Amino acid sequence: MAKKSKPQSVGQTKAWKSLKSWKRSFKPDLSDPKRAELFNIKTEFAYFDYSRQLIDQKAVKALIKLAEESGLKQKIEAMFAGEKINATEGRAVLHIALRNLSGAPILVDGRDVMPEVKAVLQKIKDFSEQVVDGKRTGFTGKRFKNIVAIGIGGSYLGPEYLAEACRPYALPGMTLRFVANVDGTDFIQKTIDLNAEETLFIIISKTFTTAETMKNAETAKQWIQNKLGKHPDIIKKHFVAVSTAREKVEAFGIDPENMFGFWDWVGGRFSATSAVGGVPLSLYLGFDNFQEILRGANWMDQHFLTTPFDKNLAVLPALLDILNINFFGFKTRALLPYSQGLSKLAAHTQQVEMESNGKRVDINGKNLKYDTGEVVFGEPGTNGQHSFYQLIHQGTQIIPCDFIGFIESQYPLGESSRQEVTHHEELNTNLLAQPDALTFGKQDKEAHKNFPGLRPSSTLLLKGLDPFTAGLLLAWTEHRAATKGFIWGINSFDQFGVELGKKLGVRQRERILRFHQTGKIDTEGLNPSTSILLNALLQKKLPE
Ligand code: F6P
Repeated sequence: MAKKSKPQSVGQTKAWKSLKSWKRSFKPDLSDPKRAELFNIKTEFAYFDYSRQLIDQKAVKALIKLAEESGLKQKIEAMFAGEKINATEGRAVLHIALRNLSGAPILVDGRDVMPEVKAVLQKIKDFSEQVVDGKRTGFTGKRFKNIVAIGIGGSYLGPEYLAEACRPYALPGMTLRFVANVDGTDFIQKTIDLNAEETLFIIISKTFTTAETMKNAETAKQWIQNKLGKHPDIIKKHFVAVSTAREKVEAFGIDPENMFGFWDWVGGRFSATSAVGGVPLSLYLGFDNFQEILRGANWMDQHFLTTPFDKNLAVLPALLDILNINFFGFKTRALLPYSQGLSKLAAHTQQVEMESNGKRVDINGKNLKYDTGEVVFGEPGTNGQHSFYQLIHQGTQIIPCDFIGFIESQYPLGESSRQEVTHHEELNTNLLAQPDALTFGKQDKEAHKNFPGLRPSSTLLLKGLDPFTAGLLLAWTEHRAATKGFIWGINSFDQFGVELGKKLGVRQRERILRFHQTGKIDTEGLNPSTSILLNALLQKKLPE
């Protein structure tokens, strides 16, 4: 029998080696006017200009080769086919099934997942329409006007990004707030002005065990009971859940009829297009707008699956990230949308990129010999310009930047005339100016005023920010991160790195409870630093 050849690490591929030698001899020159025509991707909905990256045609070819030699195409196809590519947890990775609007079967363990996906969507539609039409009301018969979504991490960041991006599409009179932090300030501030009779809580947790979410959910229960009384129908009417853990939802006291399910093949940070986003967003924006989000995500899914790598909006940026991280050593990326509606995109991208690709072993558990993951941060322009751009322009570290801009504004404000530009035009003067400043810099005899230039950036231009493009950008973020993981040969779909801190937290909770029971502070087995801090917290005074 022929021996199965061991998969090669990307660091040993020919393309990796040729990129290394390319980098040694590369002399960046970004002044060639032909670059803009050479280095762009044109699609129906988005234009991507990467002419300001530190590349030439040779580098792009080598990057495409790298993708090929690391089996990227097969890995993407395996994901779409429902194979269990999340090997450490034995799970498929099928967020694409959530927006598989064709309904074509997708099999996991020989079973088509699409009927269940469609059933949950139908349930979200029915439920949200009943609430919006006032057929389903609170305990006292009042219409729901306030939606409070309690969840954290992937059960919060994606939906919040989408809600912010689609805010102009909100149904009149409907508010949506998110409570994520277990710091009581979050709960208090988000509920302080709400009328309980008009408030619906959505408890969103894949596991229904996440400590922060469960604490906030219990507090919400008490909050509503304090205001409306203890009748069992109050929880039934004012609470719904989104989870994969039916028994735990029931044990909490939520009617399973009011539970919206999803599946183990939807990772937390990839769950915004499941009921995790579907329930709050359909209530806030209406079901049709949620479907538009799905359509946008589906467009990007199909683009990702079927477009050649050199024209692929998700793959090519991911390859540029790899070039910057592994060959130039630029390990931080700034995400700079010139759009207030994208104010939560960086926070969501942080989880998608850093929880997915913050891994130090490959998919087989072997230590990696190259860097993975990147630190992502960002703010909408122009706010960031007046804050951290100084470091990006003149600091010693080089931070590749991703600019995102829109042709149309969500709120056209002001009128253009011979003398005046609109708000949107003013915003876009900056979108045009900043990449130039980074690329070309400015020579000045005075060192403090010198701008070195040659600082890489890309610009993604879209028509307008609406539910469709918000969904498209969501899937763009997901697939870009997954592409890097596929090439690095890591598992981008588990997150064991978050577990240790949670376990240690449980032990600290036990110590605090023992203090409540005995009045004694138990520091046995604790290191001195933690012991001093615990004493200070329990005695409520700073260490002397
Ligand atoms: O602690 C990290 C994490 O497990 C994320 O991966 C996840 O998105 C988040 O917590 C919330 O988990 P859950 O939806 O189970 O409450």
